[in-house]
Amino acid sequence: MFRLQDLIKSAIGAGFMTAGVLTSAQDVQLQLNASNEVSEVQPTMYGIFFEDINFAADGGLYAEMIKNRSFEFLDPLMGWEQPNSDRHSYNSDSGIAVPVRYEGAPTNRNYCRVTVNNAAGYSMINNGFRGMGVKQGAEYRLSVDAALPERGITGIIVELVDSENKVLAESKITPNSAEWKTYEVMFTANRTEEKAKFSIRFEGTGVIDLDMISLFPTDTWKGRKNGLRKDIVELLDGLNPGFLRFPGGCIVEGRTLEQRYQWKKTVGPVEDREILINRWNTEFSHRLTPDYFQSFGIGFFEYFQLSEDLGAEPLPILSCGMACQFNTGELVPMDELDPYVQDALDLIEFANGAITTTWGKIRNDMGHPEPFDLKYIGVGNEQWGPDYIDRYKVFAKAIKAAYPEMIIVSGSGPFPDGDFFEYGMEELKKLDAEIVDEHYYRSPQWFRENADRYDSYDRNGPKIFAGEYAAQSVAIASPENKNNWECALAEAAFMTGLERNADVVHLTSYAPLMAHVEGWQWTPDLLWFDNLRSYGTPNYYVQKLFGMNSGDKLLKITKGGEAVIGQQEIYASAVKDTRAGEIIIKLVNTASNKSTVSIDISGNKVKRKATLVKLVATDLSAENSLDDPMHVSPVTQEIKTGSDKVEIELEGQSLNVIKLSYR
Ligand code: AHR
Repeated sequence: MFRLQDLIKSAIGAGFMTAGVLTSAQDVQLQLNASNEVSEVQPTMYGIFFEDINFAADGGLYAEMIKNRSFEFLDPLMGWEQPNSDRHSYNSDSGIAVPVRYEGAPTNRNYCRVTVNNAAGYSMINNGFRGMGVKQGAEYRLSVDAALPERGITGIIVELVDSENKVLAESKITPNSAEWKTYEVMFTANRTEEKAKFSIRFEGTGVIDLDMISLFPTDTWKGRKNGLRKDIVELLDGLNPGFLRFPGGCIVEGRTLEQRYQWKKTVGPVEDREILINRWNTEFSHRLTPDYFQSFGIGFFEYFQLSEDLGAEPLPILSCGMACQFNTGELVPMDELDPYVQDALDLIEFANGAITTTWGKIRNDMGHPEPFDLKYIGVGNEQWGPDYIDRYKVFAKAIKAAYPEMIIVSGSGPFPDGDFFEYGMEELKKLDAEIVDEHYYRSPQWFRENADRYDSYDRNGPKIFAGEYAAQSVAIASPENKNNWECALAEAAFMTGLERNADVVHLTSYAPLMAHVEGWQWTPDLLWFDNLRSYGTPNYYVQKLFGMNSGDKLLKITKGGEAVIGQQEIYASAVKDTRAGEIIIKLVNTASNKSTVSIDISGNKVKRKATLVKLVATDLSAENSLDDPMHVSPVTQEIKTGSDKVEIELEGQSLNVIKLSYR
């Protein structure tokens, strides 16, 4: 059996580490025919891959600040400290919290019963996701479900405190009901603190039951109550994504079938969404994250809503009845596949169905009567072998029978070549698969050398979804991998190849998308954050420049009739944006030296004033960081051109986007 961890070792053994010896480039002559629109560029060309890995959802995009808010982790009190009490030694002089199971509540199983014996000495502390980011002057909303089985506790004092227990914000709840009741209070923080903690103390003595202790900033994306972290969504929005793939990744498959992602359990009231261990919790022994669970506070409704907010096509990927083949590889027998297929059909109804349908009604009840206009659905993540093909056939037949217009995305496994890949591609071609997802986690050198990957691709075969890729500076998923300029530049070179083949490459996305600087399992990642700040990597800015400049028609830019794929270390692609009246040329110089490029333009005359957006770093190991987030970031300048010629000096190690207005 494969294990993801073994990939790191095998890749190192295979001489994966490449320093990238770069030589010089000089004068380069290119030709561009601006009236020859070779094909459409799909609006989905550059998109986003989202997976709850590296604290991307819980602890990241989902702005909830309390970890284990409803006492549902495997250890129900994980994340909660009781400084003057110890439930393991039954030291309860001050007080004690113990988990209690509800009778007959299959999704929200536990609550917490607190017995307070000495109010002055007892408190419960939650440290959030590696602390809580609190901003001076910002407002926070706390919500608590509480019940008083007996009289005695007269107040719940809730506070945000710093590491020395100095109070940053405080409020008080007066519980007044023997029955479960939700209480809400607001806080305003008096100081900014990256590692704040949440503290609960009590007035009076006695017993109180607590559940769903939830704390959110009010300043979320679009101001939605208990919504998403605004700074992170703004970074995503900045990519101008054409699609949003969710919810992964291996998380779709689960380490076991039981732990697969089941979308139906992620919709409806948040308190009823059944928590699941996050499969990345213990995946890598070098980055164990035992406190990583999925609350599903971001579930399928929220993913669809986010897609809509971003103007991106939603692209859900579903389990096809195979657990992750890097883990157990558990299989659903073919004659027991029906519920899995039904999940796919029901999802389409949830997204697009009338509000009178079973699942359309749930969407409506959640506040979205209009359909989400789902067009794509993915069957399986990165499965391989005949077991996948057998299951794909069943899904494809059922989906097409019910929804002939739905575009099905299939997978070619975890590698961009080799037996699994060859077999998968061959079989999927025979089955007339529409779009096949390919994954490449490879060295920067591989990316530079594979800019021609699709140049001779069968134009009658399936379209391509480059669904997961990222240059790995050391080895696949090595904890030493860096989001450095060498990797980003290699990706840019490769992306000119994706763009040049936009007639067959219809969707592309970097992976993974994001990581908490203290809570990550996998690196590299497109953007990073702590509890207060976030930043885009150089790789992010490469994606952004392509995403913002995707155009709608593909043009041909050549060197003596040949594609520009690294001759003199220059890579090039060109598109037209017919809506903006622009020709957009992307030039990558991977050499350390400057290079003078002249481009003869035929077919259209261009205005002499043009825009150049440059992304450049002289040091290939350059990175961005929380403290220096724009170290490698785009710079825009005006340039002058001829009406049928562009002459430009490219800096060494640079990505250049030239925008020309045509007449
Ligand atoms: O992006 C990280 C992981 O890489 C994804 O979950 C999986 O699809 C791939 O192996």
